[in-house]
Amino acid sequence: MTNARLTAIGMAIPESKIDNHYFENIIETTDEWIMSRTGIRTRYHTGPDEFTSDLCVKASQDLSAKYNTSLDDVDMILVATTSPDQPMPSMACRVQYRLNMTNAGALDIYAACAGFSYGVVMARGLIAGGMHRKILVIGAETLSKVTDFTDRSSCFLFGDGAGAVLVEASPTPHIGACITGASGEGGADLYISGFAPSIDGQELKMNRCIVQNGRKVFKWAVTKMAEQMKVLVEKNSLTLDQIDWFVPHSANLRIIEAICNETGFPLEKTLESIVDFGNTSSASIPIALYNGIQSGKVKRGDRIMLLGFGGGLAYAGTIVEW
Ligand code: UT7
Repeated sequence: MTNARLTAIGMAIPESKIDNHYFENIIETTDEWIMSRTGIRTRYHTGPDEFTSDLCVKASQDLSAKYNTSLDDVDMILVATTSPDQPMPSMACRVQYRLNMTNAGALDIYAACAGFSYGVVMARGLIAGGMHRKILVIGAETLSKVTDFTDRSSCFLFGDGAGAVLVEASPTPHIGACITGASGEGGADLYISGFAPSIDGQELKMNRCIVQNGRKVFKWAVTKMAEQMKVLVEKNSLTLDQIDWFVPHSANLRIIEAICNETGFPLEKTLESIVDFGNTSSASIPIALYNGIQSGKVKRGDRIMLLGFGGGLAYAGTIVEW
């Protein structure tokens, strides 16, 4: 079995910074309410001419420049997104073409906020199985394009952005045992409508925007992620106090606090991207990790738990050594 490790990371965010006061003009809300319920201060929105594939390309170029690494020999591109430019062609194919990665296979992962961690898990598996050696995993979203700005219970949550990592074959193991799972019965609790008018008999709002049962998803996230953190450390023959950094999906700062409260994991050892970037779905984990690394908090050799959860409802996680 071939080992794998994360070797490089990059990110991209659009230019337009949106503070909470922006929402005071379009829905009945306040900066204080948004801050106190979610921790969010700002998020970024793309303009009408910028799309998910553009953010994928920018994050990959940032990675390549920062780590002085060529993408020419990337042999697989995995893009996690829930807001692609279009359903077909895939974002991975757009990246493959635009960055001229002629040797790479290309596949999109459709697992909402769990998509990036699913991508790292899959990349590890593809490398372990000997099929690939250098995989570009991207989490990228333009959620502002699938946000219902009349929905006062959700429109302030979402932001746009992208994060990219390289997962490469390595002589030593740096990505540990993984968990994957789903609570598919919660399909109608968090969705973007498409063709079908209902899920399991529950009628959907057919606006092609994000609709969620916030309270229900909040509770599921806290209970399930607290449980899965324990499963993940056990699978890796570790204990929680041997984890240097916890990087959960940044859906809401209160969810992260509640998971830490439930498990006893210290909040100051978590990395989040919710406060500055809002909920960027599949991009939230790589953006949080990127900023942890850039700020000097995360050092090479640190043990980091990645744990994504969201629409599906789906979840995936692993423990990586940076
Ligand atoms: O990334 C995918 C996973 N997604 C999540 O994990 C999201 C999980 N859920 C959440 O983050 C939270 O449920 C929300 C932030 C979406 C909502 O927070 P909440 O504390 O669950 O609010 P709520 O919908 O239960 O509403 C509580 C109160 C209500 O007023 P009353 O009935 O208590 O008087 C709402 O009318 O807050 C009111 N409210 C608002 N007030 C000011 C709802 N939206 C707003 C608003 N501004 N925008």
